[in-house]
Amino acid sequence: MADGVCSIQICMGSSCFSRGNGLNAELIQRMMSDGENIGKFSSAEISGTLCEGLCKDGPIVIIDGTVYRHVTPIVLQDLLKKRDEVSA
Ligand code: FES
Repeated sequence: MADGVCSIQICMGSSCFSRGNGLNAELIQRMMSDGENIGKFSSAEISGTLCEGLCKDGPIVIIDGTVYRHVTPIVLQDLLKKRDEVSA
């Protein structure tokens, strides 16, 4: 990963996908394509992962190596904004 580029990994295993990561993936794509203010994350590397083995705590999203559990779309928006503010 290049310097300054952030990573967002979305678990696309069946449990996480059906419990919210399908919506989370759409949300991130929409935020990036609409140019919404998500700071450093507007150029993030987005990828999907296979099951992370944490299904009971899903949906799982990993941002810059930190695992976040129970990530709803509202939680995801807050996480991206807060993490961007902390790094600014
Ligand atoms: S499907 Fe995401 S942790 Fe298992």
